[in-house]
Amino acid sequence: MLQDQDVLERRDERLEAMNFLNQISDDYPDAISFASGRPAESFFDLGRWIERVPAFAERHGSRAGLSVRHGFDSLAQYGRTNGLINDLISRQLMIDEGIRCAAEHIVVTAGCQEALDLLVPILCPSAGDVILACSPSYIGITGVAARHKTELLPFSRHGGRSIVASLTQTIEHARTHGKQARVLYLVPDFDNPTGAVLSLDERTSIIELCAEMGIIILEDNPYGMFCFEGTRLPTMFSLDRYGCVIYLGTYSKTICPALRVGFAALPPALCHADSNLSVLGKLSRAKSFVSVNTSQLAQAVVGALLLDAGCSLTRHVSPATGHYRGNRDCMLASLSSTFAYCGDQVSWNEPKGGFFLIVDLPFSFLRAQAMACARDHGVLVMPLSFFAFDDEHDNRIRLAFSNVTHDAIRDGVARLGRFVQTQLAAR
Ligand SMILES: Cc1ncc(COP(=O)(O)O)c(C=O)c1O
Repeated sequence: MLQDQDVLERRDERLEAMNFLNQISDDYPDAISFASGRPAESFFDLGRWIERVPAFAERHGSRAGLSVRHGFDSLAQYGRTNGLINDLISRQLMIDEGIRCAAEHIVVTAGCQEALDLLVPILCPSAGDVILACSPSYIGITGVAARHKTELLPFSRHGGRSIVASLTQTIEHARTHGKQARVLYLVPDFDNPTGAVLSLDERTSIIELCAEMGIIILEDNPYGMFCFEGTRLPTMFSLDRYGCVIYLGTYSKTICPALRVGFAALPPALCHADSNLSVLGKLSRAKSFVSVNTSQLAQAVVGALLLDAGCSLTRHVSPATGHYRGNRDCMLASLSSTFAYCGDQVSWNEPKGGFFLIVDLPFSFLRAQAMACARDHGVLVMPLSFFAFDDEHDNRIRLAFSNVTHDAIRDGVARLGRFVQTQLAAR
């Protein structure tokens, strides 16, 4: 159980996690990094993608009755706040995700992060409105909650606890303290940081619970397309019959992060206004004051790629998915051989997709250990405490396997093994 002071220190540590990561990367530039979940650069092909932009500009121009030249001019102008490529995204959602969402119900944002940042104050407008998020959770939602001074109430999936029971308890806890849970933030597919996937039962029960409680689910799905084995489960958005799920998408991992193109897809129930502005209307209005519109040049690159690929990125991501699968396998094999000597003292999960896996260690691995590991052994990893709201995850670390070579994986895991050995010997 954490004391109040510890809770505050941990909150600051979570908010500083990205700076910490940048700082140790700068301090130990030769260290092997399993710390950041960057997509593999070997699949970036910006030159070729940009070559496709004229075809997009031509389509864009001809739809507006413009010449190619004026199509380009109009791309270079200020654009529609809600986005330029909504029809292509809508088609891609149908083909790749089985999601039915009208183009008019999509708002294109500067990455998924902007969608989160705009939606939280809209969905949690009053004092006492709280966000529910799993402990551990992606740092981006922690930062957004802190920025808007919205309280974030964590629930746990650790130790075999049922997610629905844990959520119900947290919602009740909020209520008895005079607070209202308004938003539930989730990464149901290949979660960051845990790599976990929510089962179909969990997805449907969570939707039922949230619909009953008037809670909006923010379904964040950057990694769903990187599925290594088995069949993908339906998104929560496509399972939702109540209009309580907003789907957040991004092209940061499937194409490249520099584009800063993501989107929010809203259910019809949140798009129709009665007396007040709808959530869609509020989102659009907020965006018009924050970033005016998402860069049309960046949208044109995404649009060109979608046009070229018949509005499906399945084939486009297939080589990268194979690469990430190979990296995961290499990391699992390296962990098995490195830690064979310590029996079940060190264990790890085997994610079925995404960029991350979790290692459980027999000692606390916090900021100080991350520093020592980088300094003395030349390997960077992320303590799970950076993503957690309690001390349940102090013995765990996140390893990202997305942007490293097999040699670096083998070498980096061996280095981690030497760090673990020194810690075990010192006990
Ligand atoms: C779970 C999750 N959501 C959102 C993002 C950010 O996405 P974007 O680059 O579209 O802002 C990330 C990036 O790592 C992520 O892991």
